[in-house]
Amino acid sequence: MAAFAPSGLFMSRQILVTSALPYANGSIHLGHLVEYIQTDIWVRFQKMCGHDCRYLCADDTHGTAIMLRAEKEGITPETLIGRVWIDHTRDFAGFNIGFDHYYSTHSDENRELASTIYLRLKEAGLIEIKTIAQLYDPVKNLFLPDRFIKGECPKCGALDQYGDNCEVCGATYSPTELKNPVSAVSGATPVHKDSEHYFFKLGACEAFLREWTTSGALQSEAANKMQEWFASGLNNWDISRDAPYFGFEIPGAPGKYFYVWLDAPVGYMASFAKYAADNGLDFDAWWGAESKTELVHFIGKDILYFHALFWPAMLKFSGHRLPTAVYAHGFLTVNGQKMSKSRGTFITADSYLAQKLNPEWLRYYYAAKLNGSMEDIDLNLDDFVARVNSDLVGKFINIASRTAGFIRKNFDGKLADGVANLELIGDFQAAAGTIAAHYEARDYAKALREIMALADRANQYVADEKPWELAKKPEAIYRLHEVCTVALNCFRLLTLYLKPVLPKLAEQVEAFLNIPPLAWEDSQSLFIRHRINEYSHLMTRIDPKSIEAMVDANKQNLEPTPAPAPVRHAEAQVNATQPVADTISIDDFAKIDLRIARIAEASHVEGADKLLRLTLDVGELGTRQVFAGIKSAYAPETLVGRLTVVVANLAPRKMKFGMSEGMVLAASGDAPGLFILSPDSGAQPGMKVK
Ligand code: 2FM
Ligand code: ZN
Repeated sequence: MAAFAPSGLFMSRQILVTSALPYANGSIHLGHLVEYIQTDIWVRFQKMCGHDCRYLCADDTHGTAIMLRAEKEGITPETLIGRVWIDHTRDFAGFNIGFDHYYSTHSDENRELASTIYLRLKEAGLIEIKTIAQLYDPVKNLFLPDRFIKGECPKCGALDQYGDNCEVCGATYSPTELKNPVSAVSGATPVHKDSEHYFFKLGACEAFLREWTTSGALQSEAANKMQEWFASGLNNWDISRDAPYFGFEIPGAPGKYFYVWLDAPVGYMASFAKYAADNGLDFDAWWGAESKTELVHFIGKDILYFHALFWPAMLKFSGHRLPTAVYAHGFLTVNGQKMSKSRGTFITADSYLAQKLNPEWLRYYYAAKLNGSMEDIDLNLDDFVARVNSDLVGKFINIASRTAGFIRKNFDGKLADGVANLELIGDFQAAAGTIAAHYEARDYAKALREIMALADRANQYVADEKPWELAKKPEAIYRLHEVCTVALNCFRLLTLYLKPVLPKLAEQVEAFLNIPPLAWEDSQSLFIRHRINEYSHLMTRIDPKSIEAMVDANKQNLEPTPAPAPVRHAEAQVNATQPVADTISIDDFAKIDLRIARIAEASHVEGADKLLRLTLDVGELGTRQVFAGIKSAYAPETLVGRLTVVVANLAPRKMKFGMSEGMVLAASGDAPGLFILSPDSGAQPGMKVK
């Protein structure tokens, strides 16, 4: 097949495309699918243009989270990742994601490639060993990743916070700063323990990275972000973890394992290595330093740091080719908010398919929202129903359903020998270049706008020509033949243009039109003198009830659980895939008994760096002892006599220094300082705050 190029130059490209490797410890959900659908559309478009494009991916299988989850389930990590691989590949296939190869990072190829890359970096003097102290679970004999440690926020004193950031005040810190830390794995108090760690000297790669990040491989928004990172200084990267760890042991370093993020991107290469071996391709022609192929990574914006800094530096200094492009997309919101388990908007791929919802509806809706930028996209469920029903069924399918029957009935299924309205079809054909350019630029929203504008014109043509009336007049039989042939030419071209987004629907249309798979170059040919098959209904409307049922099926009671959230990675705080704290109802708010309190006594607490002991007079509720983390901001004597606000019905907490029977409210933010709340004058102890 000749490659189609809008410029008229026919040149076949070789392109290796990847999507980020999903973790093997959870289900695929609609947040993940933004990326796989975005990538799949791009790949299908390239293939339709005749380019040699291969789409590779794999499960990301290593790390403490996967090890512990397997342990909890009483199975080996290998069994767990084998099971998840089956689930993931089933879900992706359900959404017509056409990987050329879907592998696993737990493979021989990956072990070998990760080790080779590491050894070359070491040879280049880019690995250093340093001893660092980390929190260690003395019961599980395990160094604890940040997300597996909980304790009191060092800044605001909030209880039950993760080891890396506080969900109450937003502070970020290192787990060793957490007060009263507890291992989320065993409940034990972690101890500080020294260990040797291996670091990749990212700082030494700065000159190269400054150049590469401005070479055009990144979107401009991403390139700007890089400047901020350079300005704040590149830290060397800790690439080792101590046993026990599910991963690859570092060559020459017994008991030390590659951090999951070291071998994850190498998984792109490993997936290709296996694919190349099975398909007779030359690995070095694609990954060698001199490779002339394109390497395109699609990722979420939260993992830019890994793909725009660590990964190119690893490739460069281990003698490999560099990515041609790293395309980051934004996060998914549902009905304008972060996905939420309690609202039922944390929707799994599986639950969507279980409601018999057509995967191509979602592909279409996402495509209509994706514009190639890093902006977040919103899946508004009402708009989803309205848009798909109106565009796909109301506009696109309608063209065939209103005309195909006449061809079968009156002309034995055969199209006319020529077309009546060459101008209309000429315009449809001429749009091929513009639409192709939008797909190439990942601006699917623009591509679909163009395509739907053409669909409007085709519908207008049918409405003007009224084939149902022509069919009633014997003298108009030729006209009827021509009009329906024009409409079906338009329909064929619309199918071709929509095919990257709707591959299964396009297949059904190809069967109905009795034609071989449509390629982009077919946009320039006419569709005449051809026998089509009988039309049968191609797509139904979305029934809003199935959407409701899907949301209900995803609703979960979000009781706080002691288990840690899935580990993603320490460096990225934002995670589109994690459920977030919900809004609360007015009834929930009413449960909090906020009262005015007078600080009757205030004193230092021996052995506590941050706490003051307060005795509060809460009017009718009597006196309360509260430990408040406000020592950095207030000398005790300045507080005595002051009015403040206290949460009076907080369950008493036993602290090291005694019982704390409430919580004093204080404000803090990014700027320094901590400010306890006070009412205007006139308020009395015991008054309710509402
Ligand atoms: O953030 C994530 O979900 C990672 N599993 C992505 C890895 S992408 C690549 F580097 F492997
Ligand atoms: Zn805090």
